[in-house]
Amino acid sequence: MESKRIAGEKACEAIKDGMTVGLGTGSTVFYTIERLGMLVKNGLEIKGVATSIETEELAKKWHIPLLSFNEVTEIDVTIDGADEVNHAFEGIKGGGGALLREKLVALSSKQNIWVVDESKVVDVLGKFHLPVEVLPFSYKYVERELLERGIKAHIRYQADGEIFITNNENMILDLEVYPLVDAKKLSNELDSLSGIVEHGLFLNIANQVIVGKKDGTIEILH
Ligand code: 5RP
Repeated sequence: MESKRIAGEKACEAIKDGMTVGLGTGSTVFYTIERLGMLVKNGLEIKGVATSIETEELAKKWHIPLLSFNEVTEIDVTIDGADEVNHAFEGIKGGGGALLREKLVALSSKQNIWVVDESKVVDVLGKFHLPVEVLPFSYKYVERELLERGIKAHIRYQADGEIFITNNENMILDLEVYPLVDAKKLSNELDSLSGIVEHGLFLNIANQVIVGKKDGTIEILH
């Protein structure tokens, strides 16, 4: 999609020689990685840290040198997509199921740039079901605990009908949370619930959101 491509490519302007770059996951960052690959081919010297196996494979295809997350202490810039972002830069991520690694990489980054098409910018979060990564051992417990709090959870399945399993061998529950008016409160509740490995509420993380529009223009939100 053109709006994803222009947003994804634009973010590469923030990347300079010598940087360690967090590489997000998804169809928008796909264009970022593709562009970075071309820049690397032309001499840009960076090291990437991938947020998923899918991204690792894509970066390898483009010969972007990679470091494992455990090899880095600090990442200069991470470029990632988002499923929803509001005007306070609160976001929902995890549509691709990579939220755990994405959050770890984001929290280790000095700067986080999100690349989205305009459909992702919303006034109220939650139309996109909130992804939560859970241990297969205890997903029923988490479902019950959430329901007691009035939150309905759906197990994520793959297109072939099999249960979706993350890169970390966990499951994803997609939560009905619309309208999410107090993201901080929900984030705290989910943080304190045993059996949840991570959730897709990314608060106080994005520094900049690059929005690609259908008319071919780009808006940068700070
Ligand atoms: C993956 C993510 C993605 O960044 C998010 O789903 C956006 O993806 P896309 O750019 O394909 O719309 O959080 O876990």
